[in-house]
Amino acid sequence: KVIVIDFGGQYNQLVARRVRECNVYCEIYSYRTPIEQIKEMNPKGIILTGGPNSCYEEDSPTYTKELFELGIPVLGLCYGAQLMNHILGGKVEKAPVREYGKTETFIDGAKDSLFAGVEDETVVWMSHFDYISKPAPGFEIIAHTADCPVAADANEAKKLYAIQFHPEVLHTVKGKEILHNFVRNICQTAGSWKMDSFAENAVREIREKVGDGKVLLALSGGVDSSVLAALLAKAIGKQLTCVFVDHGLLRKNEGDEVEGVFGPNGDFDINFVRVNAQERYYAKLAGVTEPERKRKIIGEEFIRVFEEEAKKIGKVDFLAQGTIYPDVVESGLGGESAVIKSHHNVGGLPDFVDFKEIIEPLRNLFKDEVRAVGLELGLPEYLVFRQPFPGPGLGIRIIGEVTAEKVRMVQDADYIYREEVDKAAREYKEANGVEAPWMPNQYFAALTNMRSVGVMGDERTYDYAVAVRAVRTIDFMTAEAAEIPFAVLQTVMSRIINEVRGVNRVMYDLTSKPPGTIEME
Ligand code: XMP
Repeated sequence: KVIVIDFGGQYNQLVARRVRECNVYCEIYSYRTPIEQIKEMNPKGIILTGGPNSCYEEDSPTYTKELFELGIPVLGLCYGAQLMNHILGGKVEKAPVREYGKTETFIDGAKDSLFAGVEDETVVWMSHFDYISKPAPGFEIIAHTADCPVAADANEAKKLYAIQFHPEVLHTVKGKEILHNFVRNICQTAGSWKMDSFAENAVREIREKVGDGKVLLALSGGVDSSVLAALLAKAIGKQLTCVFVDHGLLRKNEGDEVEGVFGPNGDFDINFVRVNAQERYYAKLAGVTEPERKRKIIGEEFIRVFEEEAKKIGKVDFLAQGTIYPDVVESGLGGESAVIKSHHNVGGLPDFVDFKEIIEPLRNLFKDEVRAVGLELGLPEYLVFRQPFPGPGLGIRIIGEVTAEKVRMVQDADYIYREEVDKAAREYKEANGVEAPWMPNQYFAALTNMRSVGVMGDERTYDYAVAVRAVRTIDFMTAEAAEIPFAVLQTVMSRIINEVRGVNRVMYDLTSKPPGTIEME
């Protein structure tokens, strides 16, 4: 495998993704990982990522020089490139001209190795304020730009390569080729990592580990837990029990859809327990308006319901969790970039179920890899490509008190909205052959707590306002409102008002994140 050492840059997960696209397995480790651990892994290659710091400053992330003396090929990107030169005796300084964006670059060397197949003039993605002003001894300049004398340098004899730009970003026209050259040719990897080998291996490993033990899984119906359920079903069948809690805050028809796939009439031979806890949740939520309080109640109630079901099942050997790689990295366990939020799946073992061990078979996969596994295991596309849906569900898409009646309104409005957006997106794609430029990553309806006067037929109404929201985002940390065509919004408006009793107004939420959040609670 190839390892990526993370110095906190924003594209670091992308680097690992690109390596895996070369059919080479890859993992991300923090720059705090000791060299001994790296040596034990015996990687075929090492990539140092970008990062926000200046490597010549006192407290900046760094690494021991020994890394470059292991005989393992190393590729430094951006900060990683600067750091490599800095550590090995070159000079890094604040650049007189900051480069940002697509940049014309001239290739001067490594034309048979790192830059094989790259034209002498090519466009790359730059994003830096420091630059390498003097290459480290033994290094030769292999690329430059108008403003940057060292866009890349290398010590080819030692297989050390430093590039200032970002090959992992699609704007770098030959980025894929450059990474492929490094990962496959310079690191001499076999390129045999594939998604289908993942499912096969995972099934074998699960069987070995679980033996004839019992496994319990809390199935939410989201992508990760569904794919995990399908994988476990394939590996161990009836030894798996899935508990699916319907908290009455799911989207329209969702509970029945999950039951359809995983229940007794579905495709998998497992134990499936659906708990219809709707009334319980509504009773707990009655009169509660404060958003954090609602989240807390929904979370605690889930634990209680799950605990009760687990007791009925008795002792299990393993608790399965749908942790995926970005969860691991985000929680600061793997990489460096984002100790931004601690993820609910990682750390803090649930101590309310009697079990021996946790298993997390999807722990090393990215989201799109999880989806690929799901499709391979025969899950329906609508499930595999579902948009994100928060754990507390519609509970955090209803402003103010949650009631069964309000849940019905937001469910119906949301269903119509998604149906119309999906239809328009499909039509756009059929007509143009590409995805609509406005296609949101997340889109849903929320119920505001506002009632206002309207007129329906000859009647005066005094009903609720629904807000519809659609955002485009890459990482869900920042987002902007998607430009859904006005005609689509008009259809949505008239359908919601005509079809959803209790609603007489529809508004479109334009707020970006920050300052807003994606959810509306
Ligand atoms: P916000 O509203 O924080 O949402 O901008 C960012 C992304 O996270 C999802 N989200 C949640 N997911 N449990 C989850 O599993 C939660 O409590 C939760 N709250 C927000 C939200 O849907 C969006 O994709």
